[in-house]
Amino acid sequence: MAFYTPPSRQQGLYRYTPKYLKRGGPSRLFPAVGEDGTLRFLMRELRQALIKRGQLSEPVSLMLQQVDTTLTKLDDQWNVLGTLLVDWQIFQSPWLNFALPPGEQFDVVYISDRKKMAQVLVAARKAARGEHPDELTETLTKLFAPVPARPPAPPNLAAFYRTLEQQGRHRPRVMAVHERDGGLSDREFARQRLAGTNPMILHRVRGAEQEILQPWATQPSYLLATGETIHLTEAAAQNRLFLAEYPLLSALTQTDLQAGRYVGSPRALFFRSEQGLYPVLVQLEPGGKVFTPDGQTDDWVRAKLYTQIADVTHHELIDHLCHTHLSMEAFAIATPRQLPPTHPLSQLLLPHFKFLLAINNRGNKILLAEGAAIDSLLAPLGSVAMELMNRAFRNRTFQDYGLPNNIQQRGLEAEFLPEFAYRDDASLLWQAIEDYAAAFLKRYYPTDQAVQQDPYLQAWAAELGAPLNTRPLNEFPTLPAWVPSDLAAQVGLALTTEDLPNHPRIPGFPTPEAPGTITSLQQLIAIATRIIFICGPQHAAVNFSQFDYIGYTANAPMAAYVRPETSATLDQFLPSEEQKLKQTELTFALSGIIWSRLGNEKFIRFSHESDRQILRAFQHRLADIETEIQTRNQQRLQKDGIDYPYLLPSQIPNSINI
Ligand SMILES: [Fe+2]
Repeated sequence: MAFYTPPSRQQGLYRYTPKYLKRGGPSRLFPAVGEDGTLRFLMRELRQALIKRGQLSEPVSLMLQQVDTTLTKLDDQWNVLGTLLVDWQIFQSPWLNFALPPGEQFDVVYISDRKKMAQVLVAARKAARGEHPDELTETLTKLFAPVPARPPAPPNLAAFYRTLEQQGRHRPRVMAVHERDGGLSDREFARQRLAGTNPMILHRVRGAEQEILQPWATQPSYLLATGETIHLTEAAAQNRLFLAEYPLLSALTQTDLQAGRYVGSPRALFFRSEQGLYPVLVQLEPGGKVFTPDGQTDDWVRAKLYTQIADVTHHELIDHLCHTHLSMEAFAIATPRQLPPTHPLSQLLLPHFKFLLAINNRGNKILLAEGAAIDSLLAPLGSVAMELMNRAFRNRTFQDYGLPNNIQQRGLEAEFLPEFAYRDDASLLWQAIEDYAAAFLKRYYPTDQAVQQDPYLQAWAAELGAPLNTRPLNEFPTLPAWVPSDLAAQVGLALTTEDLPNHPRIPGFPTPEAPGTITSLQQLIAIATRIIFICGPQHAAVNFSQFDYIGYTANAPMAAYVRPETSATLDQFLPSEEQKLKQTELTFALSGIIWSRLGNEKFIRFSHESDRQILRAFQHRLADIETEIQTRNQQRLQKDGIDYPYLLPSQIPNSINI
């Protein structure tokens, strides 16, 4: 295998942070490149630890705080400058970006797209606040000025949406449905379980789950919004009952939540009638109060919204961040570490990791940091949100990332649920990706033996699937020997093998039976299919739907502001206008750039003609899928007044980059 070169240089650039080891969370990139980066990290951590402990004299503590605040500000302003002056190549130089390995930073084209999106966002925000749109130069001059005090009048969301439309964007798609139905109707509440922003929760109630139904089945019948009356035991026997529940959130106590914000672990039961899926009841907490469509209108609306809140919380933390962005990060690190760029698996996978490390690094700041979006909009405390993500990551094995497994586990096959937009569109893409990966990999691995005997491939699998306490310590950053060991220990950089947990980077990788080893071609194809599917279609489905459903707070608030059982007006229950604007802005920014296209040759550059032919066959297949989904969307528009555009191949980026 003459084309292989040892990837030793890469291993020094791509190292895992030891920060999340004890918590069992996803494996993440160490946020500083090179030995000097490790020293910078040490100094920052020490400074913050000293300030937190309060053991310093007041002037020293104040000085260190000032240093810290200034450095953070400089960092933020550097990012703003980099965006505003995107056309000046110097600002995009890898030498001026310290947190990521060279080649991982966003490029000029991406930053230009982000700048355009930010300009629309700023114009809409100004309109909402009744300010005149500023010139870009004015923004530049304001860059170093203090943040202005909050204006007294609440923002005008209608003006925000109007400005978006004037700028060629669209308002959240779900608003038209709310206008048609006069709010969040039962029909729409149910439809969003299948074609909204989070199609990953619903499952069919099966025999083993009858006990969940028992307390509810004491009521002889339930009346649906369609006018039908149903009996739960009968409906379950006919496989017509479906449940949305959020058991991960049931462990949250009052002290896990932000003051004045609430999220719970409701259960929403649905019935599949001939007219489609309709809600039967909502129970606010396991064993708690039950609300039904024929009860008090306000109570029922609040119960539905309380379910939406749990759904959004679960979506943002788990289905979006954890199960796409963060879970794929270990693959994006292990691939350049273990596979030479010319290795077939590297050629196949690397294009699907483009800017993943960059967006996750940015996400650390704008989503996960203290006081950032998650902290200021969702109900769980920031530290608790991290804990939830870690638990969800550890509970999901690599097999669970496969679409057919997921559909089967949830019992949502077409015979039980004939219409399920996410499943129907995603299955087309899954099959196309599987065929593409198989055609490509078969060229390089004609037999299972070829897979078993590839040392690079096996080293890659071991880094991802073997228990961490069997791995070499140089996968983590180390400080130079002259740094006192107690200092290194204080910032978690004095690792020994005993410090490493016995779980692997990816649970159950590639299989729970033989972790850390790839034994067959079929297994290799399955691995590649799951990774490409998650980085492409899966992320697109849960990401680009955010603005359409969560960008309109009346449809899906990110937190409740009074406890759901308290009788309160809807205004008291929902976020303030300020919080609504923040939620709308965040979801617009998170859905606002579709950069790169799945399977596009601009991003996948195979060197062999035979591989390029395989790619072209994949592109033709995607073009056919585009036409098929467009036809489906016409029917969906006619039937439901809203389509499902998130899995149109033309709308799916080639990687997770937003
Ligand atoms: Fe995303």
